[in-house]
Amino acid sequence: MSFTIYDRLKRRIAYTAYLALLPLAPRLGEARRALMQENIKRPSRADILNYLLEVCRRISGTNETAYLEIGVRVPTANFSSINAFRKFGVDPGIEAPSQAVDFRMTSDEFFRKLDCNEVLSPETRFDVVFIDGLHLAEQVDRDIANALRFTKDHGFVVLHDCNPPTEWFAREQYHFFREHSLDCWNGSTWKAFLKWRSMSSISSCCIDSDFGVGILSKSFSLGAPNTSPNPFFEYQVLSNNRTAMLNLISFDELQRIVEAALTR
Ligand SMILES: C[S@@+](CC[C@H](N)C(=O)[O-])C[C@H]1O[C@@H](n2cnc3c(N)ncnc32)[C@H](O)[C@@H]1O
Repeated sequence: MSFTIYDRLKRRIAYTAYLALLPLAPRLGEARRALMQENIKRPSRADILNYLLEVCRRISGTNETAYLEIGVRVPTANFSSINAFRKFGVDPGIEAPSQAVDFRMTSDEFFRKLDCNEVLSPETRFDVVFIDGLHLAEQVDRDIANALRFTKDHGFVVLHDCNPPTEWFAREQYHFFREHSLDCWNGSTWKAFLKWRSMSSISSCCIDSDFGVGILSKSFSLGAPNTSPNPFFEYQVLSNNRTAMLNLISFDELQRIVEAALTR
């Protein structure tokens, strides 16, 4: 059996790729284990969002709640489970082009059009905005700033993927070896959340479920702002101080805080 130069070249490339991937393998194994652990945590993001919408209904005394989801992908994964009077989804259709969405555009484009009265109305105020679009810190930071402008005073801005379980989940690059992330990706959302966690004008916490569901509020006191330094947003520093930096709490704890505030 003879090998052509082409066969030899292919084998050499495959072997080089194999050697290059070996050091990554333990991180991938660690990521798969973390994925399984996170997937069994409850409640889901939908349960948390529905609880916050219910809180808004109780505060406003009306059922006419408005919900905005930035990044919908497949509606049945979350959007369809949300109980709100009016629901809107924004998604440019990058990951699931065939899915229907109210506003097929990026979040930047949506907020620009909202400002200019080209979609909905600039007076629109949402009870809950769920940010789950492009998971890169700079974009999420912009989404937070825009979402807060269009959220009612008693409303909430909620972010998915604020608590990446391993460094592999927290990488910026979504694609891996021409494959998609196989669910092991939270991106750098945590950096934007941490930035807003340090601000005294906004109160925040992160529910320890579903890869960290971050919650920002203009009126509820959800816990002290972050004061632990991490000026260069190093993952290891976050990993060693998750509870304090993210104000990582359980869903039960969130309910206790909110219910106590509502009865005051
Ligand atoms: C993680 S998925 C959303 C998952 C969904 N929210 C859920 O809970 O199941 C991220 C979505 O964000 C969309 N996306 C990507 N870039 C975006 C951008 N700049 N603005 C809004 N959405 C974006 C992608 O097309 C993708 O459908």
